[in-house]
Order: sequence, then structure tokens, then C-alpha cells
Amino acid sequence: MRWPTGTRPALRRTSRSSSTATATRRSWSGGIVERVHARGHVDFEWEVRPGISSVQLLAARHRIVLHEVGQPIVVTTGRRLLEAIDGGGHNLVVMLNRDLACRDLPGGEWRIWWGANLGTTDEVLVAGLLGEVLPEIDRARERVKDRTGWVMDTYLLRRCR
Ligand SMILES: C[S@@+](CC[C@H](N)C(=O)[O-])C[C@H]1O[C@@H](n2cnc3c(N)ncnc32)[C@H](O)[C@@H]1O
Repeated sequence: MRWPTGTRPALRRTSRSSSTATATRRSWSGGIVERVHARGHVDFEWEVRPGISSVQLLAARHRIVLHEVGQPIVVTTGRRLLEAIDGGGHNLVVMLNRDLACRDLPGGEWRIWWGANLGTTDEVLVAGLLGEVLPEIDRARERVKDRTGWVMDTYLLRRCR
């Protein structure tokens, strides 16, 4: 899998070796590095190098800011989307959502900014009124999956005023 450039944390061994090891990004986010360190069997230090997340890329590629002035933004998963909306969210970034939970929302009330395989040469973007662009997003998902064998997507939903 290709991740956007510069997003891997680096581990630097301190006492037993001067070599540099890298951990995958997923391992990092799962807290594995901290747990290995806490066990005390391996002595190392690590640093977190700031990178670009798919959420930042989504906003940049669509040339938008994620929130309206003075408004909060909620970052959630597809599985928890409805709960976030019930909680008052009206600017929502949705991740981990292969089945597009947003298709259950009233299509005339929400705008969507969607992006797949961001940061790669197969990046695809679609934006518009949810009810109008959902079929286009479904087609784009299929196309990118056929072409590359995988699809990862992230989207911003904003309630129309
Ligand atoms: C385990 S999370 C990791 C997110 C990671 N921290 C990031 O921002 O890229 C995986 C989810 O991130 C999103 N994602 C990761 N890489 C992506 C990419 N290149 N383009 C679009 N969405 C991506 C998808 O929503 C995917 O389900």
C-alpha cells in the first residue's frame, strides 16, 4: 500500500545498535511502539515525524477548508456517522467507510466532498449535492478499484443551510 509521503514514524535504537528501524504507520497508530517500549525488553527512542493525512489532502485537493468559520468539525467513521449527526454534527469527515453510510442520509440536505486514493497517481475527486453525485461516486469507486486493485476513500459531509 502506498501512503502519502513522509507519514512513517521513525524508530531509533539507542543502546544496542545504531541502526535505524521504521515501523509501519498502522503499527504506530495502534500504540504498538509505546507498548513494546513499556515492556522494557528493547531500549530505543522514537520520534513522530509530522506527515500529511488523507483528511488534509482531501481539503487541499478540493481547495476547501473543512469547517465553516467558527464551526466545529467532527472526524468519525462510517459506522458512527448517524450517531455523530444525532449529536449535532453538521461538518463531518468520514473515514473507514467502504459502504458509504452517507447513502442513508437525505440526499438534498447534504453536500459531499469525496476523495479516493488521495496522494497517489490514481487519486479521484467528486463533489456536489449528495443525492446528485452518489451514483458518480459509486462509479468512480468501481473504476479506481478495477484499475489499481484497491480503494481507500475519505469524505467531508456538510449540511446545506
Ligand atoms: C486506519 S485509517 C488511517 C488514516 C490515516 N491516518 C490517514 O489519514 O491517511 C484508514 C482510513 O483512512 C482513509 N485513507 C487512508 N489513506 C487514504 C487515501 N490515500 N485516500 C483517501 N482516504 C484514505 C480511509 O478512510 C481509510 O479507511
